[in-house]
Amino acid sequence: MRYHLTTFGCQMNDHDSERMRGLLESQGWSQTGERDDADLILFNTCTIRGSADDRFLGNLGDAKRLKRERPDVVVAVGGCWAQSQKEQIFEQFPFVDVAFGPSELTRLGELVARERIEAVGAFSLDGAFSSDLPARRERPHQAWVQISTGCNCVCTYCIVPSVRGRERSRPAADVVGEVRRVAADGVREVTLLGQNVNSYGRDLPREERATFAELLREVAAVEGVARVRYTSPHPKDMREDVVAAMAECPEVCAHLHLPAQSGSTRILKAMRRTYSRERYLDLVTRLRAAMPDLSLTTDLIVGFPGETDEDFEDTMSLVEEADYDGAYTFLYSPRPGTEAAETLDDDVPAEVKRERIGRLVDLVQATGRARAERFVGREAEVLVEGPSRTDPDLLRGRLEHNITVNFEGAAEPGSLVAVTIDSATSTTLRGRQSKVAALA
Ligand code: SAH
Ligand code: SF4
Ligand code: F3S
Repeated sequence: MRYHLTTFGCQMNDHDSERMRGLLESQGWSQTGERDDADLILFNTCTIRGSADDRFLGNLGDAKRLKRERPDVVVAVGGCWAQSQKEQIFEQFPFVDVAFGPSELTRLGELVARERIEAVGAFSLDGAFSSDLPARRERPHQAWVQISTGCNCVCTYCIVPSVRGRERSRPAADVVGEVRRVAADGVREVTLLGQNVNSYGRDLPREERATFAELLREVAAVEGVARVRYTSPHPKDMREDVVAAMAECPEVCAHLHLPAQSGSTRILKAMRRTYSRERYLDLVTRLRAAMPDLSLTTDLIVGFPGETDEDFEDTMSLVEEADYDGAYTFLYSPRPGTEAAETLDDDVPAEVKRERIGRLVDLVQATGRARAERFVGREAEVLVEGPSRTDPDLLRGRLEHNITVNFEGAAEPGSLVAVTIDSATSTTLRGRQSKVAALA
């Protein structure tokens, strides 16, 4: 019995997909790279923007064709889009056999193992933690470790709280136990995951609780763990103790993805982000004072309802003042059921949005490139990932700053090597390994 899995969306879905693989493979399924050969066609979906829905629906059309050719094939749809549609899926897409939300993926095995599968759905928002399932990791030396699920924020544009539910934290001992297990299994780098990762712990009973800063320190101290990352933090929960833990633990990487969304206090207010431009920039100043070499990346939304030229210029100047190493830029997409979609007109004309995002992307690239130049001439530590994607004669790895390096050298994936950086683009570095002979 073979399954084919397609994953869309964020790192949380990558994490969940590793668990779906682990679960299915523990029940005798094996993975195939071709949808045409699969007995089970499985999707892990995202619905963060309209474009995510469109991308998935294109793929679902392919599954419909295969189901027509081979009626025995099982089509299963999990994840955030499935949760947003619930039972409606079976009316709209009658060829779908199984659908389940992100909180119900621990039941995947049971859902697809039934004698006769027809329109079976599972959509509660408080199922078991998927992290308690076996994982089939795609990357042997890096692991996602979920520390919380769901989100209690009310960002007016965002559909995540309605599809992932209220925030729930995993007991600190479970998190650290998992980190110990993956480290013993050869993992060098762990990324702690949560929708609002740094609000961790407040919902736990006292005896199971740790603050996010305490958890960071505990994870960094685990034997074998060379690098710790986390995503995504909310600026409002970025407390001094977290900044101190980052600065003081050498294992915690000098990179922070700190979503700003907008540089205009007026728009931030309409988004219910609960910080102003000034407070965000003050946090950036404190981070840079504690970690002068920190790489900072962000998410920015263009064309939120009511965004004026002046608001947009505030976002442009935020990029310059925060001096980002990189940024994901998104066109505002009204999501059904969110406060913004229900109460605000999507009133920025499409051509204005396009013009704005074009300028923003150019600026982000220029800033990123200038920031990447700081590595040229440096000898930096690289965690080796494998051969370069573009040139098989080169190796690929990453700096703790989360920037990819293609380099000449000879080293095993999972090892840490010193690389002298020779040149930079806005997204990658090029270099050569120091002392190859000594290592070989
Ligand atoms: N929990 C994370 C990720 C949220 S989704 C966090 O809070 O940072 C990732 C990004 O998608 C968000 O940071 C935001 O920039 C963007 N996004 C979310 N909803 C959106 C929408 N309706 N339109 C456009 N971008 C959106
Ligand atoms: Fe969405 Fe805001 Fe929660 Fe992030 S913090 S998942 S943007 S509601
Ligand atoms: Fe998408 Fe769900 Fe992540 S909507 S961005 S897969 S939390």
